[in-house]
Amino acid sequence: MCLSRNLYFEDEVNEEKFSLPMLMRLIHYAGKYKADYIKVTALLIGTSFLSLIPAAINMVIINEVLPQNGVLPQDMKSKAVVLLSFWFALSIGAVVSNYITSKVSTKMGNDIICNLRKDLFDKLMDLSFEYYDNRPVGKILVRVTNYTDELAGFFINDMTRVVESVFLMLITFICIVFIEIRLALVTAVVSIPVWFLMWLLARALHRQVRIERNKQSNRTAFLAEDINGLEVIKAFNREALNEEIFSELSEKYHKAYMGSTRYREMFFPLSHGIIEMTCTAILYAAALFLITHQWESPLTLGAVVTVTTYMQRFSSAAFSVCQRLQAITNITSNIERIFEVLDTPSRITDRETAKEVDSVKGNVDFEQVDFSYVKGVKVLENIDLHIKAGQMIALVGPTGAGKTTIVSLLSRFYDVEHGSVKIDGKDIRDMTLASLRKNIGVMMQDTFLFHGTILDNIRFSKPDASDEECIEAAKQAYAHEFIMKKEKGYETMLSGNGSELSGGEKQLLSFARLLLADPKIIILDEATSNIDTQTEKAVQAVFTTLLKGRTSFVIAHRLSTIRNADRILYIDKKAVQEDGSHEELMARNGLYAKLAGHGAD
Ligand SMILES: Nc1ncnc2c1ncn2[C@@H]1O[C@H](COP(=O)(O)OP(=O)(O)OP(=O)(O)O)[C@@H](O)[C@H]1O
Ligand SMILES: [Mg+2]
Repeated sequence: MCLSRNLYFEDEVNEEKFSLPMLMRLIHYAGKYKADYIKVTALLIGTSFLSLIPAAINMVIINEVLPQNGVLPQDMKSKAVVLLSFWFALSIGAVVSNYITSKVSTKMGNDIICNLRKDLFDKLMDLSFEYYDNRPVGKILVRVTNYTDELAGFFINDMTRVVESVFLMLITFICIVFIEIRLALVTAVVSIPVWFLMWLLARALHRQVRIERNKQSNRTAFLAEDINGLEVIKAFNREALNEEIFSELSEKYHKAYMGSTRYREMFFPLSHGIIEMTCTAILYAAALFLITHQWESPLTLGAVVTVTTYMQRFSSAAFSVCQRLQAITNITSNIERIFEVLDTPSRITDRETAKEVDSVKGNVDFEQVDFSYVKGVKVLENIDLHIKAGQMIALVGPTGAGKTTIVSLLSRFYDVEHGSVKIDGKDIRDMTLASLRKNIGVMMQDTFLFHGTILDNIRFSKPDASDEECIEAAKQAYAHEFIMKKEKGYETMLSGNGSELSGGEKQLLSFARLLLADPKIIILDEATSNIDTQTEKAVQAVFTTLLKGRTSFVIAHRLSTIRNADRILYIDKKAVQEDGSHEELMARNGLYAKLAGHGAD
């Protein structure tokens, strides 16, 4: 259980810190495309290699041909043909490789992002409510949408090009070593501060981008919450105040964005300038040595010209590496956040030894159960309940007593802190979650309906149900009548959360959805509270038949709903205070009798 809950105005603490192994994990996602990746990289490297040939030809021309008054020596002719053919192949190769690289990289990048997003979604479906309790939904959304989108660029543009550029840098350097080792040494020595500076800049950018992402996340969290709560916002005239909050959050994001842009912008001129200056310095030194003949073995003119060309290739490759470094640094925070979600342990998950259960009988036992949402603050203490299959159990008690919590534990929405919950004598943690939840049907007061037709929404609990089955369930739930009054009947389109239905209609529809699933254990948490007394009475009649043969937990404030329960549990002060039938509890004249006395039927 987590003590700290993140809010929209608070930056999240980074639990995962970016590291090279993390980048390798991301690259691992490209595993499926290893063959494509190797092919494309090899092609790029091959073309880069070929692009070094013209300079070598220049050296031969300057050193061998020009001194002979421009006449090519006999033994050079065949070599010249080979070199020129390579030169020609180079131009074609460059066009082909660029085309293939862009095609393969785009496909690979998008596929990888698709897989990564799928894994993220699977994980989010897997995570327990505790995870969602602790952060605003917008901060989760932004990871699945924006953050993953931004990673696509890395796979499309950077992953192959960075290898190509590093290779080009190495190969040009090796060429310089072969032509003139003294200049190569100067190159190596002068390069060190460049890379050190780039590393410092990358670190600063990483820190700033992390701040930027936090501000972006805060803004999205507020936006998502605002749209969700628009009705309340309008009802309380909060538009102006919320606009102010949003603009403040946007301002903070903008400031952070400009902060990281400053570093991003520094990358290019700095890397470009420094690399150019380094090259110039090296060439200047070379020219000086050449003119003044300071070295024992003097430089040839051909070597100087060729090294000059290679230095230019070296500098453009180094610049490209810097560019990729900037691009990769830009997404490091996204990688941290994405892996943070993927690495969050799913607290409520199948044990390795968990078994699939078919249809349960419906005996339920709570054995010495303790539970807290927040560590140290117990909501339930020592709950000991033994319920026979087929019984209807009503839970009553003051607001916040723990009624919903008790039934949430039965569905394993949360796990008990101490003790156990058993169905047919078997600990529910030893059953697979899927088979447990298949046997339990839950309906809460604030039911959720999805975008789609009324029929789609009923079928949600049993995707393979026929239209007739869905309609039958609607009839049993007393929903058929109001559905048929709609112009398009079962084909009526519902928008987000069925806002075009009344509260009671939504509950009847959810009831139909529940009945279609036909679970052995039913949990109704204030499930009929929005239905008018007249309809509720009718529902009540079917209720009794429908709940027959199933164990049911009914939480309701209306006493008519619970009067017929086999057992009524009065929950208060973290425990079951009274337990018995309506008559027994009335005769006892305790808490329940007091409640019943006050209760308006
Ligand atoms: N997700 C949560 N995180 C932290 N505390 C919670 C959470 N859900 C409920 N609580 C707290 O646990 C206690 C029991 O809540 P619960 O929802 O079980 O009450 P209830 O008996 O169903 O009340 P009501 O009749 O109002 O629905 C309350 O004090 C509530 O504030
Ligand atoms: Mg409740």
